[in-house]
Amino acid sequence: MIKDAHVLIVGGAGFVGSNLVKMLLSPKIKIHVIDNLLSAERFNVPEAENIIFTEGSISDDDIVGNLVDEYDYVFHLATYHGNQSSIHDPLADHENNTLTSLKLFNKLKTFKRLKKVVYSSAGCSVAEKTFGDAKPSKEVDIVSLDMDSPYSISKIIGEFYAKYYFKQHQLPVVRVRFQNVFGPGEVLGAGKWRGTPATVWRNVTPTFIYKALKKMSLPLENNGVATRDFIYVDDICRGLIQAARLGKTGDVYNLASGKEISIRELAETINQLTGNTSPIEHLPKRSWDHSGKRFGCPLKAEQEICFKAATDFYEGMKTTIAWTQNNLALIEKTIDKHKKYL
Ligand SMILES: NC(=O)c1ccc[n+]([C@@H]2O[C@H](COP(=O)([O-])OP(=O)(O)OC[C@H]3O[C@@H](n4cnc5c(N)ncnc54)[C@H](O)[C@@H]3O)[C@@H](O)[C@H]2O)c1
Repeated sequence: MIKDAHVLIVGGAGFVGSNLVKMLLSPKIKIHVIDNLLSAERFNVPEAENIIFTEGSISDDDIVGNLVDEYDYVFHLATYHGNQSSIHDPLADHENNTLTSLKLFNKLKTFKRLKKVVYSSAGCSVAEKTFGDAKPSKEVDIVSLDMDSPYSISKIIGEFYAKYYFKQHQLPVVRVRFQNVFGPGEVLGAGKWRGTPATVWRNVTPTFIYKALKKMSLPLENNGVATRDFIYVDDICRGLIQAARLGKTGDVYNLASGKEISIRELAETINQLTGNTSPIEHLPKRSWDHSGKRFGCPLKAEQEICFKAATDFYEGMKTTIAWTQNNLALIEKTIDKHKKYL
């Protein structure tokens, strides 16, 4: 664990960020969250004496310019969420996904107190584009120039800048590549309208769980043949902390379960766990998504930063379903904010 530290979490009101805040929260840790609430709600960040919240964009010169050399660790989790919103508005993606990383690293490059900066990258940027048999993505795999979305481009540009600032300025940055994170705290419709229904239906797991609890049909694209590596949010947060503690600066680690699960299996599991008997709604394949089957290789993180995902997929789903059920009124309130656009 990290102790006696001052931690900056950029994007700390979001799904992963707010879980990380809660995991780190202790009397010996001072936390500063910066978030412009683009895809998050203020209520995600707990009220506590040792948490300071700044509402604003890290690509705003006033916000980034005000940072001073007082942090031991920085977690950079800000993003323009996610692939579909970025396709709808590539310039907003650039502003909140690429520029955020560049301005933050450029500001941090002179800070002396920093022990580690952890940059959250995405497995989708590096996965092979295949609907055939997938091999687990390894950290050493060659990155293709063929990207499916501005989001994927921005995430990998963040990695390029992380590498550059490490080599040129010795910024102690470690990159971690997440697979598909699920768990409590992912609020459908969180934040501002981003021009597409993906503002509300932001990821497959919370969408399926919400619809299943409402006894609605789950929308299955391309017969659900795509596969993903689902990793529970507590595991991701432990992985982020392990990367901060033990990650080699300049290096990259997958945070993955290493298990490949099809979207059809995800839908069937959620229907079974919620008792939803509504028939599945079959939809065509998404035209932009060529990254059909993918999962990550967890071995390097296991060997080098002592990180292994521990939460079983079914147990994690049960906890996430229970959390969604208990927070249904709150989730529906955030969905309702966007109803006039849907
Ligand atoms: N959730 C996943 O499955 C997944 C998979 C791969 C990578 N990631 C990465 O993990 C990180 C966290 O993702 P998440 O799922 O929690 O997403 P999220 O949308 O819940 O969190 C991102 C946060 O960044 C904030 N933000 C956006 N623009 C900002 C800006 N200009 N300045 C400050 N804050 C800004 C948002 O308001 C939000 O709170 C992201 O970098 C994402 O790319 C997530």
